[in-house]
Amino acid sequence: MIFQQFFEPVSSTFTYLIAKSRSAEAVIIDPVLEEVDRYLKFLGENNLKLVTAMDTHVHADHKTGLGKLRSITRCMTCYGHKAQTSLVARRLKHGDKITIEGITIDVLETPGHTDDSISYYMEGMVFTGDALFIRGNGRTDFQNGDAGELFDSLNDIIFELPNNTIVWPGHDYKGEHCSTVGVEKVENTRYSGKSRAEFIEIMDNLNLPNPKQMDESVPYNIGISDHLGESLNDEYILSCDEVEALPSYMLIDLRDQDEVNKDGAIANSILIPLRDLEDAIANTEHPINKAQGVIFYCAHGERSTIGLELAIEKGLTNVKHMSGGINVWKSLGKDVM
Ligand SMILES: [Fe+2]
Repeated sequence: MIFQQFFEPVSSTFTYLIAKSRSAEAVIIDPVLEEVDRYLKFLGENNLKLVTAMDTHVHADHKTGLGKLRSITRCMTCYGHKAQTSLVARRLKHGDKITIEGITIDVLETPGHTDDSISYYMEGMVFTGDALFIRGNGRTDFQNGDAGELFDSLNDIIFELPNNTIVWPGHDYKGEHCSTVGVEKVENTRYSGKSRAEFIEIMDNLNLPNPKQMDESVPYNIGISDHLGESLNDEYILSCDEVEALPSYMLIDLRDQDEVNKDGAIANSILIPLRDLEDAIANTEHPINKAQGVIFYCAHGERSTIGLELAIEKGLTNVKHMSGGINVWKSLGKDVM
């Protein structure tokens, strides 16, 4: 396995880049905007293809690298489903699975630091964001944080994992790098030996100043402005009703299999996860190159925008995308299978 922990010193943020092997697909967790060139260099040195970039929550102390990475690599972006962000490709719920080549990642909802906080579990490791630090935890006094919820996330979710699970936190301020569930259960003095009420009492009286970069970071992270779709005029964008009226077009679903299993798909659509689209277009025998017209769709319309921009760049003509994705399709009462 390829595993790299990056440290960004201004906000003391950890970023993780993981792949099964060299030349495989890669995932990045909590990238920092100013550090994107470092990640790209590492990806290049190991011949990795970044397919998924995900944050553990909307950060208040740094700008996310998700948007810049998406512009450059066309990766799928992910947040917890409660994140107040626009332009996110996949909004994750507890129990969702993210699959990249050779690796499956389980999504754990661990709210409390913020209401949208999630942790990621894979292969004996848990990436806890700001829910759990080494001998500490994230504050709970802004962004809809809730100390009681955080206690429950620690008690019922993270500390239910096996004791030898390696904890990779979102930050460290003292030069540490990782811990384990077993050690933190005993030595995390905020939590260990405390009742829920005692934990709330501690968290509600920390009286911390706001993070230095909060005023610029939060609006940036909510907007993730990477100019996605700005090159597309209205002729490329269809409503769900317009898609239904064009049955001769090939309908291509750019989501992952896990999402299809959970949410269904539109009848007669072909699944090509976004990461595989470029290869499909490059294959002259692929049906996408023989269709009279192509309509892309995904969960919310973000991946289909990326796919459309890619298809146009690669020379496909008569391509469009369905605005709002299957989410809007279902909200209109239209059938899925
Ligand atoms: Fe945070």
